[in-house]
Amino acid sequence: MPAYKIAVLKGDGIGPEIVESAIKVLKGVEHLSGHSFELEEGLIGGVAIDQKGEPLPQETLDLCLKADAVLLGAVGGPKWDNLPTSKRPERGLLEIRKALDLYANLRPAKVYEPLIGASPLKEEVVRGTDFIVIRELTGDVYYGEPRGIFLEGGKRIGINTMRYTEDEIRRVVVKGFEVAMKRRKKLTSVDKSNVLEVSGLWRDVVEEERKNYPEVEVEHLYVDNCAMQIVRRPSSFDVIVTGNIFGDILSDEAAVITGSLGMLPSASLGERYALYEPIHGSAPDIAGKGIANPIATILSVAMMLRYSFHLEKEAKAIERAVELVLEKGYRTPDIYSEGCLKVGTKEMTDAIISSLEEAWQSF
Ligand code: IPM
Ligand code: MG
Repeated sequence: MPAYKIAVLKGDGIGPEIVESAIKVLKGVEHLSGHSFELEEGLIGGVAIDQKGEPLPQETLDLCLKADAVLLGAVGGPKWDNLPTSKRPERGLLEIRKALDLYANLRPAKVYEPLIGASPLKEEVVRGTDFIVIRELTGDVYYGEPRGIFLEGGKRIGINTMRYTEDEIRRVVVKGFEVAMKRRKKLTSVDKSNVLEVSGLWRDVVEEERKNYPEVEVEHLYVDNCAMQIVRRPSSFDVIVTGNIFGDILSDEAAVITGSLGMLPSASLGERYALYEPIHGSAPDIAGKGIANPIATILSVAMMLRYSFHLEKEAKAIERAVELVLEKGYRTPDIYSEGCLKVGTKEMTDAIISSLEEAWQSF
C-alpha cells in the first residue's frame, strides 16, 4: 500500500504542541490499520516570517502542492501584531487557501453530551446540536478588488469589495447539498439579499441547484436572523452554507455555543487539495505550558482520514476514542468542570491513544 503524504505545518503558539499530539494519534492509527502516512514539515505564519521573511514561503507552498493533504496547527501571536495587514502571519493562511483553491470550509458544531454544561446556552436549548457550517473560503470581501485605503478630497477612504461569480457560488452550494445528502438532508443558505446584490445572486444560485436535490429541505435566512436563530434553536440546523465573511462570523458563534471551542476541527476542501486545522487559534497565552487541548487537532486528523483518504473506519475510531476519554472524565483546563480529571496535553493525548484500540474493535 502506498503511503499517504501529509504536509505538516505546525505554525505558532500552541500549534507545535497540538500538532505533535495529533501526529501521535495518527501513528496509533497507522499501527492499528496498517496504512502508512509520510509526514514532511514546513513553515507557516510567524515562525516563517522570523526564519524566511514571509508568512508563506515558496518552499512551504511547494511542499503542500506535492502532498495528499495538509495538517495545520495555528498561526499568529502578539509578537507579529504590529506588522501591516499584508505582512502578518494570518496572511499565510489566506494565501494558502487561495493557492490551493480551498473553496469549501467545513466547520462542524457539535455538542458533546459530557461537556454540555460548558455551553453558555441552557442545556435544554443546546442539547442534540450537531450541525456543520460550510463557509466559502476563497472569494467575497476577503479577496475582492478594489481594496485599500485611498485619498478622496484630502480625506482617507477605506474600500473593500464584496464579489462573487456565479461559478464560485455554485461550487460551494453544490458542496452544501452533497454534504446535506449524507446527513439529515436539511440545508440553510445564509445571505443578506434584502440589501446586497451579491446575496441576491447567491440566493438565485441556491434556488437553481435545489432542483438537483429534491430530497433536501432548503431554508434561506438573512445573516442577522441566522445569528439569532443559532442561539435560539441550534439543534434545528443540519448544514449551513454561506459566503466567506458571514461564515467567518457565524462559525465562531456556532463554535462557542457548543461549549467546546477547543474541541472543534475543520476541513478546507478544493477539487484537488485539502487542508485540516483546528477552529481555535494559536492561544499564545498558554503556549509551551503543556495544557493546550489537542482534541480539535486530533479530530481534524479524523476529518482528513475521512475526506482525503476515505478511511471512514479509521476516522470513526478516532472520534469514538475522543468520546470515550470524555466519558471517562478526562478534561484539559479549558473544558474542566468539578469532579472531572484535570489533565495536560500529553495525558489527554495518551488517554486517547489508549482508547483508540477499544474504539477500533467496536467497529
Ligand atoms: C478563521 C480566522 C481567519 C479568517 C483569520 C485568522 C484570517 O478568523 O479562520 O476563521 O478570518 O478567515
Ligand atoms: Mg474566524
